[in-house]
Amino acid sequence: PYPFYEHLRSESPVVHDSRTDVWMLLDHDSVRRALNDHEVFSSAVVAPPAMTSQWLVFNDQPRHTRLRALVTRGFAPRAVAAMEPRIRELARELLAATRGREAFDLVDEFAVPLPLRVIAELFGAPAEDLPRYRRWSDVIMALGWSVAGGEAAARVHAEFAAVTDEMREYLAGLTDSRRVAGRDDLLTRLVEADADGELLGADELLGFFQLLLSAGHETTTNLIANAVLCLLEHPHELARLRATPELLGTAIEEVLRHRSPVQAMFRVTRSPVELHGRTIPEGRMVMPMIGAANRDPRKFDDPHHFDITRDPNPHLAFGHGIHFCVGAPLSRLEARVAMGELLARFVRMERADDEPWQPRRAIHVLGPTHLRLRCTE
Ligand code: HEM
Repeated sequence: PYPFYEHLRSESPVVHDSRTDVWMLLDHDSVRRALNDHEVFSSAVVAPPAMTSQWLVFNDQPRHTRLRALVTRGFAPRAVAAMEPRIRELARELLAATRGREAFDLVDEFAVPLPLRVIAELFGAPAEDLPRYRRWSDVIMALGWSVAGGEAAARVHAEFAAVTDEMREYLAGLTDSRRVAGRDDLLTRLVEADADGELLGADELLGFFQLLLSAGHETTTNLIANAVLCLLEHPHELARLRATPELLGTAIEEVLRHRSPVQAMFRVTRSPVELHGRTIPEGRMVMPMIGAANRDPRKFDDPHHFDITRDPNPHLAFGHGIHFCVGAPLSRLEARVAMGELLARFVRMERADDEPWQPRRAIHVLGPTHLRLRCTE
């Protein structure tokens, strides 16, 4: 998408697509403003009867504040850090399964199952539930296309409605078993009242489950796959990282910037707003293009250059402000563990074919559908 962003931004950082009546923001300042200024840019982009209106990310204050407080209980920094050994174990298991094979698909065999298993375990779900989680997640991710309207949107909505019913039933079963077992996992914390007696409603819990399956899975999958892709495309940086493993943290931040897993979010204007001399009227759909903002030459020196030591790196990959990603510490941890394990196990990694990689099937995320690797232990 990057040459396309450049092309658009060369005309104006604020672009109106008259066919869809969507306003795209392409520079760091306006993207940051739209993500942050919730008085003007509302997150309530879906109409209330829709299930997605229950999702934290599509709510404004004051409901957002209440929901966020209830759900972040499951993501306390200590709870996240405590997951590291289990994530490492899962990563090792997945990589061990590739042993003795000439090539394997990094996406299907590592970058997809790792975050998916982490999410499923957060919910205390057994391994046999994983195929269902994967299917649900695929349907939810495809929702992004519905902004384009038309026949494809109708089909996606019908699939989503069916999946919502399935998930509602599944969650009810899981919640009951949790109440009985009285365990200490994310789901158990989510079904309990907080200190003030506040409780998530059944639809709010289901909405959060759906949000986690999309926000918490596909994004981290893309981060891991994009990290490998970036390093393979920049052998000098890969060699630097091998020589200096302490650079892993800044390397992952650079992947988040250079090839942002979430390329865009959605907002709707509550009042007319002027940006770069153009006025966006009230009630219009706006897309802050995170991927473009993260390559804005006015914010980043040499923005197309991939530099694993870049610091400071004020990218917007996890958003900004009250909606800043709840899962940022978890996905950073997953990416660090995943990359650490890959680099430790394989002294050599290369693409097993040189076909151009295909982007995944969703409008607002970026990552390869497959990435076949040939690796040497
Ligand atoms: C919100 C990106 C991983 C849960 C967001 C937002 C972005 C984002 C850009 C802001 C949305 C907005 O402003 O409208 C990412 C990226 C990830 C990632 C790039 C991985 C590389 C995760 C994970 C979880 C998660 C692992 C949970 C397990 C959430 C939630 C929100 C959110 C619940 C909504 C927060 C709110 O509205 O207050 N994420 N995310 N994300 N993310 Fe993530």
